[in-house]
Amino acid sequence: MNRTISFTSGKGGVGKTTLVCNVAAELGRQGKRVLILDGDLGMANVDILFGVRAQGNIGQVLNGQATIEEVITEVAPGVDLIPGGSGIYGLSRLEPLQKHVLLDQVSRLNRNYDYMLIDTAPGIDDHVLYLNSAAQEILVVVTPDPTSLTDAYALIKVLNQRHRENRFSVVTNMVKDEIEGRQVFHKLSDVANRFLCVSLNYRGCIPADLILRQSVRSQQLVVQMQSRSPAATAIRALADNLRDSQRFSEIKGGIQFFWNQLSGVA
Ligand SMILES: Nc1ncnc2c1ncn2[C@@H]1O[C@H](COP(=O)(O)OP(=O)(O)OP(=O)(O)O)[C@@H](O)[C@H]1O
Ligand SMILES: [Mg+2]
Repeated sequence: MNRTISFTSGKGGVGKTTLVCNVAAELGRQGKRVLILDGDLGMANVDILFGVRAQGNIGQVLNGQATIEEVITEVAPGVDLIPGGSGIYGLSRLEPLQKHVLLDQVSRLNRNYDYMLIDTAPGIDDHVLYLNSAAQEILVVVTPDPTSLTDAYALIKVLNQRHRENRFSVVTNMVKDEIEGRQVFHKLSDVANRFLCVSLNYRGCIPADLILRQSVRSQQLVVQMQSRSPAATAIRALADNLRDSQRFSEIKGGIQFFWNQLSGVA
């Protein structure tokens, strides 16, 4: 059974793309097959982090200009990418014909994937909520920055109220140490438990690490190039945690469910 996990946040720049790419590379290294959907239309940059240049995007698939196989790019061993580009915006308001095209194309995917990771834009725009609500597991990335916490709360609140989502995973990023990681999680979960009917599941923390920052600058993945660094070690633990845990939502299915949901047939 394959799984879909969206990496999302209320505030921008908290490390979603960095975590998606490194977790995917790590799962790929372990022999898993991973598909990334780059769902950030403004700053679509998953390919850049992998040091490759993707051709095309999902918008061209929806318009019939390309097949899904033509826009999928292999970015690392075991890891494929569907670039989103402006096409992501359209995913939340597909025409009937486009829904048909999307499902038809997805059913033609040649490879079977174990995981689909969705990198979303930050915030509570419709298309972000839409991608999150189609994913089996919503992984909210937060940092110790107070605005990151309030924005994460706002995102969880709208997903709960508008999309009836009530289970979320949380990873804390750019923390000083594990103690701070847990503190940040508890701040968020305390407020969420008090005011909303949701449950939050802590998936761990990633330390602020200069080596990671440098590797992003040189378009390299820290789990590949500096695998013993603190951030790489923590990202490996996160990948293991995601891999070893039970399927998060019993109600939602895997990759096929995700596409069905986007197409409105689920
Ligand atoms: N654990 C970390 N330690 C140090 N720097 C980090 C860490 N995580 C992310 N960064 C840095 O933070 C910056 C933002 O990261 P990234 O682009 O992954 O965030 P994002 O949430 O995807 O942003 P956006 O909301 O714009 O899509 C990058 O320069 C990255 O190198
Ligand atoms: Mg990003």
